Amino acid sequence: MHRTKIALIGGGQIGSVLALMATQKELGNIVIVDRPESENNVKGKALDIMTLRPHDGIDVELIGTSNYDDIDDADVVIVTAGIPRKPNMSRDDLLGINIEIIKGVAEEVKVHAPNAFVVVATNPVDAMSYTFQKVSGFPKSRVVGLSGALDTGRFQAFIAMETGLSANDVSCMVMGGHGPTMIPLVRTATVAGIPISELLTQERIDSIMKRTREAGTEIVHLLGNGSAYFSSAASIMEMVEAYLGDKKRVISSSMLCEGEYGVNGYYIGVPCVIGTNGVERIIEADLTDDEKAMFQTNFEAVKATTDNTGL
Ligand code: APR
Repeated sequence: MHRTKIALIGGGQIGSVLALMATQKELGNIVIVDRPESENNVKGKALDIMTLRPHDGIDVELIGTSNYDDIDDADVVIVTAGIPRKPNMSRDDLLGINIEIIKGVAEEVKVHAPNAFVVVATNPVDAMSYTFQKVSGFPKSRVVGLSGALDTGRFQAFIAMETGLSANDVSCMVMGGHGPTMIPLVRTATVAGIPISELLTQERIDSIMKRTREAGTEIVHLLGNGSAYFSSAASIMEMVEAYLGDKKRVISSSMLCEGEYGVNGYYIGVPCVIGTNGVERIIEADLTDDEKAMFQTNFEAVKATTDNTGL
């Protein structure tokens, strides 16, 4: 039997939590790749999780490495290689360093795992997903960025916290590039089908919108030495499970638009159907004039950063 092979490129905070989550869900064998100077560190993490398996009755295998031969024929590649934000840095400030890392990673993945479904989490994610797709030459359906899954989870969590109701019953979406002008679609947010406008005052809704947009920054300031990683890993898992399980989940994600929402040739957060063929399609929902204006502002920011990649 073929066991799914999952390659984690970057075994830092997000990569480590992903390794644990993917093991506990028995998604497949896991290879954690990091820089040569961090090889022992990821070997240690892999061994630590290998020895956790008996407690959970799990049989998947993990290795840590800096050798890309070890990811040969991986089915799924998750890229978190790069540096995270420090307090007072924007995601865009990471571009100069992370672009070189992503270019190198994309060259390796192209050679070693040419058929993989790739999720890019490295920030600034819209520009990094764009870079990965350009350098690898992979079809766009197999290169997707983590954005809306994480942002939507935050929006859902804050609605649940404000209403005192279960996050399980909250349905909503955040669109747009993963930055401070992302668009929490308040109009579509419900709790068990009930519009949040019937449950919360406009003032509370406005503050949820603001907090959703700034949640990453709020966490960066609280942590003091890194950015969010538990929720990032959980959001990536949602995307990967949609792919492996052919679930046809609708997950807002950074995806190359070719005309959708008036965007041509850029990665930006849009509702994506994720199933066995990767991102199978983008759903083009009708936006109000206000939402269109917010999306346009957001796109200008994504475009400026992406144009800075020079690709
Ligand atoms: N190849 C492989 N791994 C690399 C490379 C490289 N060229 N360069 C850096 N790394 C590794 C680092 O050694 C580190 O282990 O990537 C890992 C990044 O981990 P963290 O610094 O802990 O960052 P993390 O919180 O996991 O975030 C990773 O995802 O959400 C984004 O903004 C975040 O860009 C950041 C990325």
